[in-house]
Amino acid sequence: AVIVIDYGSQYTKLILRRIRENHIYSEIVPVNTLYEKIVEINPSAIILSGGPRSVYDKDALTIDKRIFEAGIPVLGICYGMQLMAHLLGGRVEPSDTREYGRADAEFKTDSPLFKGVKSPSVVWMSHGDKVMEVPEGFEIIASTEDTKIAAMGNDKKKLYAVQFHPEVSHTESGKIILKNFLFEIAKIKPDWQMGSFIDEKVREIKEIVGNKKVILGLSGGVDSSVAAALIHKAIGDNLYCIFVDHGLLRKNEGEIVYKTFKERFGFNLKMVDASKMFLERLKGVIDPEEKRKIIGKTFVEVFEKEASLFKDAEFLAQGTLYPDVIESSAHGGTSVTIKTHHNVGGLPEKMNLKLLEPLRDLFKDEVREIGRILGLPEEIVSRHPFPGPGLAVRIIGEITEDKIRILQEADHIFIEELRKVGLYNDISQAFAVLTPVKTVGVMGDYRTYEYVLALRAVKTEDFMTADWYEMPYNLLKKVSSRIINKVKGINRVVYDVTSKPPATVEWE
Ligand code: XMP
Repeated sequence: AVIVIDYGSQYTKLILRRIRENHIYSEIVPVNTLYEKIVEINPSAIILSGGPRSVYDKDALTIDKRIFEAGIPVLGICYGMQLMAHLLGGRVEPSDTREYGRADAEFKTDSPLFKGVKSPSVVWMSHGDKVMEVPEGFEIIASTEDTKIAAMGNDKKKLYAVQFHPEVSHTESGKIILKNFLFEIAKIKPDWQMGSFIDEKVREIKEIVGNKKVILGLSGGVDSSVAAALIHKAIGDNLYCIFVDHGLLRKNEGEIVYKTFKERFGFNLKMVDASKMFLERLKGVIDPEEKRKIIGKTFVEVFEKEASLFKDAEFLAQGTLYPDVIESSAHGGTSVTIKTHHNVGGLPEKMNLKLLEPLRDLFKDEVREIGRILGLPEEIVSRHPFPGPGLAVRIIGEITEDKIRILQEADHIFIEELRKVGLYNDISQAFAVLTPVKTVGVMGDYRTYEYVLALRAVKTEDFMTADWYEMPYNLLKKVSSRIINKVKGINRVVYDVTSKPPATVEWE
């Protein structure tokens, strides 16, 4: 394994992912792991992550110096570089100002770390302190205008360090640099697959859970579905799944979940239709945040009640992914907080259950891959994300049963056409929005006065920013005419050509 020592950088998990992409197993070990313990793990390489502190801080995080003499290849990144320099007798200059953003770096391409790297090329910087003198035995192998020692290496001891962040995609040659470290320098064989991740997780879940019971809220989305499949593989019938239908789901959503998990895989699955209660409470509500609050609160209420019927459950499982977990580097520790709006209704905190989050270290595409290996249907695995409050935030203004039906039908047609022409997987998220605007139309000999439906499709890496999708005209034409002909209540279709920012992905 490659171990990553975490000094609290927001990018630590990204390093992990970059290593795993190369089919090499990797794990994070805490900073205070003893030297003896590290040697016992016998890692094929060590990476020291970045971090917010200075090596001169009173409570600076450090490492046992002997690690550099153990014959294990080490790559220090950012703070990791400063630490390496500091401990091995180089000189680090403290600084109050930060260098942040892109910089052009010149590389010494005869260093094994930079074999095949374009020089000069762009690197991503985010640091205050910097190394001013390399330790004995090291040479400078990259420089930028502001940072003379942007990388250093000691070929004999296989110790390398970079001031920039090779793990972020802004660093043009980042992937090559990490590959060079893993394959050229540490000579690791790429023999790790997602399949082994599954085996390891299954073992881990068995160990943690034992004979106890686990409850999981299954939504039909990718994350909870894959979490369920993984946990089920580990503990079988000791997993209780609860599916809460709040009445604002996509067309056939409950059916797909039932068919897949109950009929096909034989899960312990309870379907709860709570739509009446939700719709009752949403009556007359038009404010988006109010809708969210009502749905969140009601969801927790329903879920807690259902969960409490499983008296012997001790764990609550969630499909939390790494992007849902924001590393708070501000405090310098490795503490994490959860973006609550991404977990339907937030954590039922009062439930007194232990949390089980087997996908916590993974990114969406990795989760999809695991889902496929576990045999989940493509329909679920490749699904676009769907907000917790569901169609409630896609029906602008007041929600009625009629409007829900109209939106479900229209949305279904849009998605079906996207799948038919093979564009669905090229789009990050696509859906229909029902506006409260009515306009005049003419159908046959009749004048109509019906709703305007908007189509939305975006492409994005992380949903923080998003571009509107350049949809082929003939597809828009087809979708529009199918919707107007088939869905009673809509006589006009428009396409949303706004990116985020300034708009958000959802309309509410
Ligand atoms: P926005 O509209 O904020 O959406 O640009 C970004 C992503 O978040 C999803 N989203 C939500 N997910 N509960 C959720 O679980 C919510 O209240 C919520 N609001 C937005 C949205 O679908 C998109 O993927």
